[in-house]
Amino acid sequence: VARRIRVVVCGFGRVGRSFVRLLDDTRARVERSHGLALDLIGVGELAASLLDASGLPPAETAALYETTRGFAGHPALRPDWRGLELVREAEADVLVETTPTDIRTGEPALGHIRTALGRRMHVASANKGPFIRHYRELRELAAKQGVALKLSAAAAAALPTLDVAETCLAGTEILAIEGVLNGTSNFILTRMRAGHAYAAALGEAQRLGIAEPDPTLDVEGYDTANKLALIANAAMDADLVPEDVERVGITGLPADMVRAAAADGRMVRLVGRATRDGDGRVRARVAPEALPADHPLASVDGAEKGISYVTDTMHRVTVVGGKSDPRGAAAALLKDVLNIYRGAIPR
Ligand SMILES: NC(=O)c1ccc[n+]([C@@H]2O[C@H](COP(=O)([O-])OP(=O)(O)OC[C@H]3O[C@@H](n4cnc5c(N)ncnc54)[C@H](OP(=O)(O)O)[C@@H]3O)[C@@H](O)[C@H]2O)c1
Repeated sequence: VARRIRVVVCGFGRVGRSFVRLLDDTRARVERSHGLALDLIGVGELAASLLDASGLPPAETAALYETTRGFAGHPALRPDWRGLELVREAEADVLVETTPTDIRTGEPALGHIRTALGRRMHVASANKGPFIRHYRELRELAAKQGVALKLSAAAAAALPTLDVAETCLAGTEILAIEGVLNGTSNFILTRMRAGHAYAAALGEAQRLGIAEPDPTLDVEGYDTANKLALIANAAMDADLVPEDVERVGITGLPADMVRAAAADGRMVRLVGRATRDGDGRVRARVAPEALPADHPLASVDGAEKGISYVTDTMHRVTVVGGKSDPRGAAAALLKDVLNIYRGAIPR
């Protein structure tokens, strides 16, 4: 019989609901291949929460939330609870954290995660906010409590970044990281290469729902800087905050520069780069770079992403793909939960 794992989800937005739907869609495969029965027992939202130790039907609960914008009248309703009260009270094995990201304070996810780890729950987070300034603290708390803290979905989601560094590259020294980590900027650069001006390419990305109405975080390189700092802190044991990352976005990039690079066979990409200096310090920078055609990140196309690790003993290892959407982020959360139960507790 499958081992029952009790899951609570905080934040029932696009990613949270995609995640619970994935629980239904993958139930048979997860039981067969992993011997696990992932049971949703709680959902924490801003206005109210649900808790039912015997289990909530995932897709039905998501559909109810979508039609009523809440849980009014639900038998498992906890009207005064937000995510934090749910994490304080639920007897759960895993917290899946999908509340909105606040890069400055990390809240409300920081409180959810501290509380969950304190209660010896494993954590899988799509929210990167808490790890921007509290990564080491949370990592140490998880280790002290003997539970896992997984953040794949916060670090480029469907593109495996941290897992590759932590498991596939174990024992190597990572000398440098290069990443095309923002799908929106990459889509715009790909369209500019095809001859479109920046504004037209951005407009197209917005129409397709790839770019936000306010694209600043993506096109000015903030999102890449945040992800790069997170990945470098985990993979290179760096101690970076986003302000340490030098940053140049793509808004000022002239279309003819992209075309000139193309005429040379080079490809302009918004690259996040972390390298270790002679003094051992990790330095990080985000800027548009004209990559030669044979660079492994030159072929990262459209809204895709890619990461390349330069190591001492395995040379260069590159992963490309993992287009991000809420379902891809949900799949990264599911992967983290499954890997938590794979063996001895991984980080
Ligand atoms: N979308 C993606 O493709 C993607 C990919 C990777 C990572 N992420 C990360 O995943 C997280 C969720 O993204 P999303 O697109 O699903 O965002 P979203 O649609 O805005 O959903 C977030 C949900 O959390 C709720 N919430 C806010 N404060 C809360 C609290 N204190 N307790 C419980 N719930 C609370 C929000 O409620 P209200 O609506 O009432 O405010 C909302 O329903 C973010 O941190 C994002 O950066 C997203």
